[in-house]
Amino acid sequence: GLLGFNHVDWINRNAEIFIFIGEASQQGMGIGKQAMQLLIDFSRNNLNLHMLYLNVFSYNYGAIKMYEKIGFSIDGRLRESKFSKGKYHDTIIMSKLLNEG
Ligand SMILES: CC(C)(COP(=O)(O)OP(=O)(O)OC[C@H]1O[C@@H](n2cnc3c(N)ncnc32)[C@H](O)[C@@H]1OP(=O)(O)O)[C@@H](O)C(=O)NCCC(=O)NCCS
Repeated sequence: GLLGFNHVDWINRNAEIFIFIGEASQQGMGIGKQAMQLLIDFSRNNLNLHMLYLNVFSYNYGAIKMYEKIGFSIDGRLRESKFSKGKYHDTIIMSKLLNEG
């Protein structure tokens, strides 16, 4: 799998992040949550960032649940910005302020 930063804004101290666990058999075992927590701690303690944000498709319920469990909240949505399997879906924007614990 992969996780990392898509874009780091050093002036405003925020970054867009992403995560992907490639092996479906390894999903749902706590790895994603643990890896995201490491990324959050690294962003706060080593990079001195203030805020992280990410995009997730509205049909990706598992990912949204995982992000909520590690303290991300929904900021908004880009309506019908994703076309998949014959239907339009929203892109949800989520963020976490790193001084919120
Ligand atoms: C989304 C993803 C990163 C989550 O990582 P994961 O290792 O599968 O998730 P975890 O096992 O760490 O789960 C963390 C929490 O989220 C919840 N969760 C995860 N998947 C879930 C699902 N499908 N439905 C409901 N809850 C879910 C778990 O219940 C868990 O809560 P808990 O700690 O209270 O038990 C991973 O499944 C993945 O890479 N999926 C494919 C790519 C993808 O969708 N990436 C995100 C794009 S925005």
